[in-house]
Amino acid sequence: MRFKTIDDMTAAGMLDGKVVLARVDLNVPVEDGRVTDRTRMERIVPTVRDLRAAGAKVVLLAHFGRPKGEVNEAMSLRQVLPALREVLGTDVAFADGDYTDSVKALPPGGVILFENVRFNPGEERNDGGFAKRLASVGDLYCNDAFSAAHRAHATTEKLAHLLPAFAGRAMQAELEALGKALGDPQPPVAAVVGGAKVSTKLELLGNLVERVQHLVIGGGMANTFLAAQGIDVAKSLCEHDLLDTAREIAAKAEGAGCTILLPRDVVVAEEFRANPPTRTVAVEDVPAGWMILDAGPDSVAHVRQVLSGCATLVWNGPLGAFEMAPFDAATTQAAQHAAELTRAGKLVSVAGGGDTVAALNKAGVADDFTYISTAGGAFLEWMEGKTLPGVAALESAAG
Ligand code: 3PG
Repeated sequence: MRFKTIDDMTAAGMLDGKVVLARVDLNVPVEDGRVTDRTRMERIVPTVRDLRAAGAKVVLLAHFGRPKGEVNEAMSLRQVLPALREVLGTDVAFADGDYTDSVKALPPGGVILFENVRFNPGEERNDGGFAKRLASVGDLYCNDAFSAAHRAHATTEKLAHLLPAFAGRAMQAELEALGKALGDPQPPVAAVVGGAKVSTKLELLGNLVERVQHLVIGGGMANTFLAAQGIDVAKSLCEHDLLDTAREIAAKAEGAGCTILLPRDVVVAEEFRANPPTRTVAVEDVPAGWMILDAGPDSVAHVRQVLSGCATLVWNGPLGAFEMAPFDAATTQAAQHAAELTRAGKLVSVAGGGDTVAALNKAGVADDFTYISTAGGAFLEWMEGKTLPGVAALESAAG
């Protein structure tokens, strides 16, 4: 994978006095007009800092929500401005249409945020006209939004063909970390894949069994695999229509030399709520009317043992119903072990996608993993082995 970076542009003296259109991801959680998690904002700090230090003016391009090409005040990026100014530690101007004059008014090193690019129907259509209008106010294009790179949109893809294009610091770090985890990893490689449904992760599982030596399946998905082996999972979440698919994935894994780890024992309850009466039973002994809500201690011990023998780990999804105590135990214990191995320099651990960051934060280990991606859909598509249009455009721009 080859793409240009901020260092390449700085070395070539291309940033000084120039206007850089920087695509970032400001699709952050907001409640009552306040940003409740600033992680994505914090990730863009190095890019904005380094572009300004090199003498560039920075135009931030971002989306918020899915307004479907229409102006929708509830999805205005104005609401993230106060938090953004605090996180970046600088003033950030705002423009909602008058791009040319707003950019002209920027002082050297100035930063401006344009209104939600998805208010324009041309954004999601990857429209050349919209991209050209944006390109006309900038000299260079920087993509620092890996989490939006699975979208072929005007600001994630088209712009890279219209202006000299390079990756921002967060995009660079993300691609380097992901490369170490699945691109060119040090074996043995383990993948932990959890979550409710096999149906949402079919392509991902199909890709992983050919690329990793150990695949740990957890969460509701594991029940479908257990049922495919003829185990009665009683009232557990299970996609009974996908038993053949689960068997096909298991057969593909066997053919590829990948071991699938399913729970051996499980924590069960009669209902899914916080702290109900629970039992820990072997997977063959789930009582009628009960449901599996977490992996049991023997299963966690097995996962820990396998991780101890691995050099690389890629993690997506919790092992149990982690949002409700005590069903977060397996995820927490396995994640803590991965964190210990990482701290000891024995494991490269990369995690991302949907609930994963929340689960690892809850386990208190997010800072100990080698890299935690803030991407949801983009991380999944990358794990599926798909080409991400935003990344491909940066590569083609690098020649
Ligand atoms: C995300 O939140 O995962 C990214 O910002 C992409 O958003 P999207 O799924 O609406 O394209």
